[in-house]
Formats: sequence, C-alpha cells, structure tokens
Amino acid sequence: MADTEYALEARGIGKRFGEFWAVNNVDLKVRRGAIHALIGPNGAGKTTCFNLLTKTLQPSTGKIILDGEDISRLRTSDVAKKGMVRSFQISATFTDLTALQNVRVALQSSHGSAWRFWSPISSIYKLNERAEDLLEQVGLADARDMKAAELSYGKKRALEIATTLALEPKVMLLDEPTAGMGHEDIEPITELIRKVSRDRTIVIVEHNLSVVSTLSDRITVLQAGQVLMEGNYAEVSSDERVIAAYLGGVDDAA
Ligand SMILES: Nc1ncnc2c1ncn2[C@@H]1O[C@H](COP(=O)(O)OP(=O)(O)OP(=O)(O)O)[C@@H](O)[C@H]1O
Ligand SMILES: [Mg+2]
Repeated sequence: MADTEYALEARGIGKRFGEFWAVNNVDLKVRRGAIHALIGPNGAGKTTCFNLLTKTLQPSTGKIILDGEDISRLRTSDVAKKGMVRSFQISATFTDLTALQNVRVALQSSHGSAWRFWSPISSIYKLNERAEDLLEQVGLADARDMKAAELSYGKKRALEIATTLALEPKVMLLDEPTAGMGHEDIEPITELIRKVSRDRTIVIVEHNLSVVSTLSDRITVLQAGQVLMEGNYAEVSSDERVIAAYLGGVDDAA
C-alpha cells in the first residue's frame, strides 16, 4: 500500500469532551513526502487533532487512514509499529542519561526483543554505531556523552528528534517543535526538520508562522475545531478569514 498519494488521511474525525466538540468533522489529506502544517489560534483543536491522528485519543467520529490502511481502531503502540510516530511521545528524554544512552534506549525499545541483554556483543556494537549515526544526523555528535539535563533547550529538542528517528518513522508528527525557543535555536531546529523530512512525511503543529512559511508544503488552518481553509503559505496568509481568526484569538503567532 506504499504507493498511495497520501501518507495520512483523516476523514470526518471528531472528538467530544462532554458536550463540547474540541475537533469537529475534520478532513485532512497529507501528501506523501510533504511537510504539512496544522495552524490556528489557541484552542483551535490542533493538539487534540494530533492526539487523534496518533491514537493517543480515541476519535468520537471518523476514520484515520495510514498508507491506505484504516488505523482508526489501533492503539498508539500499534500505530507506531506501522510507522507513524509523534515526537516527544516516547522521549521527554531521560535527564540522567547521556545523549548516546538516550538514543540507545530508543533504539532498544524500537527493536523490542531483538536487543535483549543476552544479545551477542556484535549486536551491541551495531546498536552503538546506529546511535552515534543518529546523533550525528541531528548535529549532536559532540554532545554524545553529555547528560540530557545539561543540554541546551535546542539540543534537547534535537535529541528528542533523534530518539524519534530511532523508531524509523515514515510519518513523523511534531507538536510545536520550536515552542519556548530563542532565536538562536529556531533556525537549527528548522533546518533539522527540513533535513529529516527528506525521506519521510511530516505533520507539524507550529505557532511560529515564519517557521511554518519556511517549512510547509501545505497548511491546514483550524478554528474552533473545524477546518477553516487549506492551502500553501501564500494562500493561507492572505486569506481574510485566516487573518480574522488570528486577530480574534491573538496568540504568539503574530
Ligand atoms: N481533555 C479535555 N477535556 C476537555 N476539553 C478539552 C480537553 N482537551 C482539550 N480541550 C479543549 O478543546 C479545545 C481544543 O484544545 P487543543 O489543546 O486541541 O487546542 P490547540 O489548538 O492545541 O491550542 P493551543 O494553541 O493553545 O495549543 C480547547 O477549548 C480545550 O480547552
Ligand atoms: Mg496545542
């Protein structure tokens, strides 16, 4: 099923909390290989939508299709096995472990029983090699022996991305990857996301519209739990409904 045009689709997904629909009848089509952003004012339903896509939350309505396969009834762990991983899901990183150890833990968890402690020593070396390779990819080769707690904010995020990459996701979901970052960290993380997007599909929730404009091939704007519009950055940023939605619920996007 790897040839479908869309890596990920949501059809009429909704989530109700009591009487309140946080996400209401949302359709989403994420083209294979694209970086697709979900934006919208505070409370628009972006995070809830994310949680539905990864099955962290059970949808009240609708279907989620990954690689042409209906995953609506799968658990998060099974969704991850099918190749869709949410960054910061497994991680939050172990602060007392080094960068290298954190990536090794992620690799071990992704390989499950293949990496038991009685595995031959050669497989342990392979694990180390792979971990070092991932650290290199995210620009943390020099930080391999630093404890996660000692890393700068931007480097922690890079480490989280490395632990996510350890699961070899085909579809990667990033919820506000630049949240709380200073200028000096935003650019390297943006570049890193672009780099890791080369051989996979990415869905990103991001408040920083300059990051959104730099990275996104496609943007879906949510408002009050529904899709307000979809388009590329030029289309979305010039749309009066979008401008009004942002002015109505001013956040740190401006
Ligand atoms: N578990 C919950 N129970 C009840 N209401 C919830 C729950 N989770 C989210 N909501 C409500 O659903 C709406 C959408 O929330 P959500 O967190 O998805 O928005 P968001 O677009 O991610 O916002 P932000 O930009 O602030 O991160 C909000 O009104 C929120 O208060
Ligand atoms: Mg949110």
